[in-house]
Amino acid sequence: MKTTDRLTDVRAKASLGGGKQRIEQQHAKGKLTARERIDLLLDEGSFTELDAFVLARPTELIPDDERVMGDGVVTGFGRIDGRHVYVFSQDFTVFGGSLAEAHAQKICKVMDLAVRNGAPIIGLNDSGGARIQEGVVSLGGYADIFLRNVLASGVVPQISAIMGPCAGGAVYSPAITDFIVMVRDTSYMFVTGPNVVKTVTHENVTFDELGGADVHAHKSGVAHFETDDEPGCAALLRRLVGFLPSNNLDPAPVVATDDPPDREASELDDIVPDLTTKPYDMKEVVRRVVDDGEFLEVHEGWAQNIICAFARLDGRSIGVVAQQPMVLAGVLDIDASVKAARFVRFCDAFNIALVTFVDVPGFLPGTEQEHRGIIRNGAKLLYAYAEATVPKLTVITRKAYGGAYDVMSSKHIRGDYNVAWPSAEIAVMGPEGAVNVIHRDEIAKADDPDRRRSQLVGEYIERFANPYVAAARGYLDDVIEPRETRRKLIAALRSLAGKRDTNPRRKHGNIPL
Ligand code: HXC
Repeated sequence: MKTTDRLTDVRAKASLGGGKQRIEQQHAKGKLTARERIDLLLDEGSFTELDAFVLARPTELIPDDERVMGDGVVTGFGRIDGRHVYVFSQDFTVFGGSLAEAHAQKICKVMDLAVRNGAPIIGLNDSGGARIQEGVVSLGGYADIFLRNVLASGVVPQISAIMGPCAGGAVYSPAITDFIVMVRDTSYMFVTGPNVVKTVTHENVTFDELGGADVHAHKSGVAHFETDDEPGCAALLRRLVGFLPSNNLDPAPVVATDDPPDREASELDDIVPDLTTKPYDMKEVVRRVVDDGEFLEVHEGWAQNIICAFARLDGRSIGVVAQQPMVLAGVLDIDASVKAARFVRFCDAFNIALVTFVDVPGFLPGTEQEHRGIIRNGAKLLYAYAEATVPKLTVITRKAYGGAYDVMSSKHIRGDYNVAWPSAEIAVMGPEGAVNVIHRDEIAKADDPDRRRSQLVGEYIERFANPYVAAARGYLDDVIEPRETRRKLIAALRSLAGKRDTNPRRKHGNIPL
């Protein structure tokens, strides 16, 4: 046999993973194989595989003839829209994609390459967890990956797609990565499965109810994105990567657009209702300002009172943070604070400018929030914005009350360009609350308390609930017409292209966790 023929044979065998029958079983479950997923994810023909011939370490529990080449994970590098990425894709046809020593070493190798070469690392997870036959060696393999996840954090983008089971401690590698994408109906994540839950808490729960895509995208906030199927997942991963720089030293990619930088959006002039308690859709504001009206929401289904999204302005990637008045009046609660804090920190780590649209009545009051720690959690967002050194642009569209005014990328915490629309109301608290505090006695003594209260509210609005008090102090750089928001933001963004700002040297700060 010619040596090249032997190579062809060995390659063909390696590419079959657990064999034809198990590939059919995988397809029957509505799932693709590890290699098919890579093909969908990467530019056609761009994948270079590494370590295809690696074998599982010998163990007493697995006979030699069952040690499959590749050891249950396909690793290598390729391109997305021409840009390099590193990939690992777990192969469920080999011992259920379980992680063992060689499997872990392969993943660690591509993670090390990603960091050394400054390219994103994308993990396609489909695994029964630690390979039981290899015992503690598998646990060690996980720990080797966790350590690399932590060291790579903020250095290269790390993205996890969950395309099957992800159980036990195995969930913590995806949890450390920057983004988790789950596929509806075929993926789930939990620390312990339904059987253990039944034994410990006597709850009867299905895989999906415990840790399916809907649960994590809407309730727990563990998943940043959920998709209907695997091709949708691959398309989303490609789109997401398009917004991100390859590493923390590179600028965010610039994508040419035909959307004119000076485009006016006259519809915005009337978008904020006259009645200050009436909601409007902040996504419409974002859509009319950013390039081509396109944005990609992160955590779209969770903590919907705040919007976090990648978009582009003038071709440059930006991170948009915006209150959503349509949900809970855009109040800042625990989940919204945590959601936005993580997003702000991601953008700051990867040189993505932050554009914040503010319409916030304040932090959510009440025992439920206080007892769960709104103080500790709200502080995360304050901390994240304050430490961020990327360009920070802020537009106050309506309310900016109380501590939430300070938190939302205000001038005081190094906002670079802070403007408000004429409809802005900036004050310590809303008119009703304020009047009830400072004029309590006067209202109580009035012949007609309700009438006196509404008079005082009117005076308060006239005096405080406008942008001009803040503008007079220089806390706002300008008050602008809504229609000119895009033009003004782009001009500011261009002026900030060379921004240099640093924080004091230290081992690391101590963000309230
Ligand atoms: C070895 C495993 C395995 C594992 C699955 N397989 N998980 N082999 N180690 N962890 C094998 C099965 O034996 C089976 O082989 C094949 O993979 C396919 O599995 P099925 O059970 O037939 O598939 P399915 O019905 O889809 O169920 C998938 C599953 C289930 C839900 C993942 O296999 C399962 O519950 N596995 C165990 C999960 C688990 O408890 N892992 C440990 C978690 S603790 P055959 O040859 O029979 O077809 C952990 C610690 C990490 O991971 C700690 C990090 C700090």
